Amino acid sequence: MKQIQKLAAAVGVALLGCMSQSIAAEKVTYYCSAQEDWCQLMASGFEEATGIKVNMTRKSSGETFAQIKAEADNPKGDVWWGGTGDPHLQAAEEGLTEAYESPMRGELHDWSISQSESADNKTIGIYSGALGYGYNEEILKANNLPEPACWEDLLKPEYKGHVQMANPNSSGTAYTTLATIVQLFGEDEGFEFMKGLHKNINQYTKSGSAPIKAAARGENTIGIVFMHDAVKQAASGFPIKVVAPCEGTGYEIGSMSLIKDGRNLENAKKFYDWALTADVQSRSLEVKAFQVMSNKSAESSPQAPDLASIKLIDYDFKKYGSSAERKRLLKKWDDEVSTLPR
Ligand code: F6P
Repeated sequence: MKQIQKLAAAVGVALLGCMSQSIAAEKVTYYCSAQEDWCQLMASGFEEATGIKVNMTRKSSGETFAQIKAEADNPKGDVWWGGTGDPHLQAAEEGLTEAYESPMRGELHDWSISQSESADNKTIGIYSGALGYGYNEEILKANNLPEPACWEDLLKPEYKGHVQMANPNSSGTAYTTLATIVQLFGEDEGFEFMKGLHKNINQYTKSGSAPIKAAARGENTIGIVFMHDAVKQAASGFPIKVVAPCEGTGYEIGSMSLIKDGRNLENAKKFYDWALTADVQSRSLEVKAFQVMSNKSAESSPQAPDLASIKLIDYDFKKYGSSAERKRLLKKWDDEVSTLPR
């Protein structure tokens, strides 16, 4: 009898162990580098769709890259969703992310797949959007300032203290700005531009969209941001005018990657496949995220910037998303631009 009791207890303990293991496995740690409300929507949407618990952290693209790199020996995250593609490409090159070919690939635009193929399938494009700037029309008028239309306009001395952008180390938006200016004007002239712009900057923020949120609130005049982030403020009723700079502009391929040696790889893959579906991507409109989504059947809004009508440069993602080039440009900006007096 005692033997049977012992056996039953042992089986019970083993069963409990299995159950708690599978319950513990039903979670995913998700690093998000898109706008906060969209990050939250993705987290709650995935929990509702699958019952898998999501632990979410929102940080800007460059900051998330730095965190994943710092955690490389003991990874804490499973999937990195959103943020500009350059640091995702750098993470792929540095072996921080995992190759994966989702069954959803057939539904995606070519630019999303090219992003993946250029990184041995260690990342994938989830949305795209053009860089530009936005300004608060009321503040501009109240200060008798001319309406800017080009990148060069932002160097005018009358805009001193009226322009805001993020720090390219933390923000993917600001790194895209730096890389765009270098590609548009050449490296020497581009850095001269960044130095001239520095004189007019009132603050370098951590997050890329902060400058246009500040303009919407009346705390800043011009914010250098992705155009869709400026449209979001205009669509929310703020007096924001959106500008596609006359010289042409760069763009992003917002990306998603699986973190290497993540503890919940299978759940991360479920999140990855789910995030590429048309239904999930169409939900971006609920939070006024006006990027072009990578699933060909995802809905878009007539308010979204029309990329076909914007003069886009042939942004060299391979070069500017490479580890050596991103490090070099950021160091040069730190040494030669950020240290100058304003
Ligand atoms: O979600 C808004 C957005 O501008 C994305 O399009 C972009 O990938 C991300 O934020 C960049 O944020 P940050 O500049 O803070 O890294």
